[in-house]
Amino acid sequence: MEFVQTRELKPGLYLCPMAEDLTIVSGSKADQYQSLIPQIKGLLEGENDLVANLANVAAALKEQFDWLWVGFYLVKENELVLGPFQGPVACTRIRKGRGVCGSSWAEARTLVVPDVEQFPGHIACSSSSRSEIVVPIIRNGQVLGVLDVDSAELDQYDAIDQEYLEKIVALIPW
Ligand code: SME
Repeated sequence: MEFVQTRELKPGLYLCPMAEDLTIVSGSKADQYQSLIPQIKGLLEGENDLVANLANVAAALKEQFDWLWVGFYLVKENELVLGPFQGPVACTRIRKGRGVCGSSWAEARTLVVPDVEQFPGHIACSSSSRSEIVVPIIRNGQVLGVLDVDSAELDQYDAIDQEYLEKIVALIPW
């Protein structure tokens, strides 16, 4: 997205083309994802900077669903390192096989955790977190990172979240 695509609202005041553009809907969880996905496609279109794209995907999910924490960890030198996120400050590094994120990476599959206290080795970045879903980002058979989503409520994530969040991470150009 280039600077030249900004719109001049009034002399000297330029509006970023993405500003205030996200439409937040109510309705079922599937309805909310179905409204969000084309908007996320729009945010990603024409932009190949990874940090910019991850930041906007995290922000869009946070705005629509108002979850406690939404963000990315990226595989760097055989660790997960904190990437763009929305929510409380979080641990910066997670080893393979550790916590929900490190387990999702090691097993290369989505993990849905209805009650984080029941997940052996769960890493609590926020004491308010009660349930969690972690979706690995896989390209050419390699896990490149994970999308981690946390809720302050128990049992917030299910197969619908898994389906749509997997679709969303597949949209991100890497
Ligand atoms: N709960 C995660 C750690 C990351 S934070 O929740 C942001 C885990 O167990 O891997």
